[in-house]
Amino acid sequence: MADQIRVLIVDDIPETRDHLTKLLGFESDVEVVGSAASGAQALEMAVRLSPDVVLMDINMPDMDGITATEKLSAAVPAAAVVMMSVQGEADYLRRSMLAGAREFLVKPFSSDELTASIRQVYSREQDKISRMAAAAPPVSNDSGITSSGAGGENEGRVIAIFSPKGGVGRTTIAVNLAVAAATELGRSVVLMDGSFQFGDVGVLLNLNPKNKSIADLVPELEMGEPESLDTFVIKHSSGISVLLAPPSPEMAELITPGGVKRVIEALRRRHDLVIIDCTSWFNDTTLAILDVADDVLTILSLEITSIKNMRLFLEVADQLGYEQSKIKLVLNRADSTLGIRVTDVENSIGRKVDHTIVSDGRSVVYALNRGVPFFLSNREAQVSQDVLRLATVISGEGAATVADDARKPVQKKSMFSFR
Ligand SMILES: Nc1ncnc2c1ncn2[C@@H]1O[C@H](COP(=O)(O)OP(=O)(O)OP(=O)(O)O)[C@@H](O)[C@H]1O
Ligand SMILES: [Mg+2]
Repeated sequence: MADQIRVLIVDDIPETRDHLTKLLGFESDVEVVGSAASGAQALEMAVRLSPDVVLMDINMPDMDGITATEKLSAAVPAAAVVMMSVQGEADYLRRSMLAGAREFLVKPFSSDELTASIRQVYSREQDKISRMAAAAPPVSNDSGITSSGAGGENEGRVIAIFSPKGGVGRTTIAVNLAVAAATELGRSVVLMDGSFQFGDVGVLLNLNPKNKSIADLVPELEMGEPESLDTFVIKHSSGISVLLAPPSPEMAELITPGGVKRVIEALRRRHDLVIIDCTSWFNDTTLAILDVADDVLTILSLEITSIKNMRLFLEVADQLGYEQSKIKLVLNRADSTLGIRVTDVENSIGRKVDHTIVSDGRSVVYALNRGVPFFLSNREAQVSQDVLRLATVISGEGAATVADDARKPVQKKSMFSFR
């Protein structure tokens, strides 16, 4: 059997420590190597025990979880922190992510959620370590994330394409949305690949990965804004501009939240629309993108895992203080029902779906394999029509087509009914 995941528990309440230790005792792949009652003790133990994962309470009397995480990230960078907080601590949550926490759990959580989070951060960390073998040393993170609303008068709209689960069609939608807004609506569009480690945007558009990427632009912007971004942004034949992800995953480490924000600000000053294909997990750079976005198009599919994660995400978005209207729910592959109906989804997540895109494997996969967006090769297909409607809404034209009541919550159920 594979190595066990070594976990350190940090909580000032003895009962919580005991409870978590017992819960994790049932998992054969997890070993609790210690439990600490304070931030200071956590630091000391982490240095000594080198845990893989640290479960950190956010509220502790001597040193709060955020400060402890900050120190721990510096002292024991290989230990991934999972922050535990109670509801209504939006600011804490944001700050803890910036301090270096990899995940957070909102109390009360089920033992399944707990172990899933631990396994997830652990395997992500392992992936990272193995990819970092020949990598450049990471530069330190700068923070300075403050939430900003819509941009100023001459600034374009920033549209983040996000989903709390992978493989639901984010990249497909981001690419075709960008092309639709540019070719049909005449918008000046830049598409940014916000999946810095495993970006697919270049593949879908058949662009040469040797082109310059955001990794070249970030250091440039640190020295002041250049006259033009032409050297970094690629022109695609459809008319959209594209800012690629770095050519190798380890270079993603060089991109900080502050750097991402500067890039987005520079792009939005030059384009009507900045469309960003995000990762499906929270990290500090994704959070920075979601923060500055005017709209977060959150993609879900008719799968139970996608729906469950969506409920969690909506809760987190609430905690982060995002306006409900900033999050727009887009159901992709809407007709491949497989036993779940749209109304089931809406009842489960307590919200109406704002937009749907049909499933069309023929057009979509054929286009993917040719490196031509389906919006260009199959303009008449229903899937293209659906994308165009969405492009119209996010471009600010006919925004009223998103029914106002579509975003009103329907009877909201507690997300923690998943037990
Ligand atoms: N509307 C659709 N109809 C049919 N197939 C689709 C549709 N949207 C996406 N797909 C297919 O689903 C798969 C996943 O799409 P895509 O890569 O865009 O998702 P993603 O969320 O970006 O995934 P990842 O997490 O890997 O970044 C692809 O094979 C794509 O062709
Ligand atoms: Mg993708």
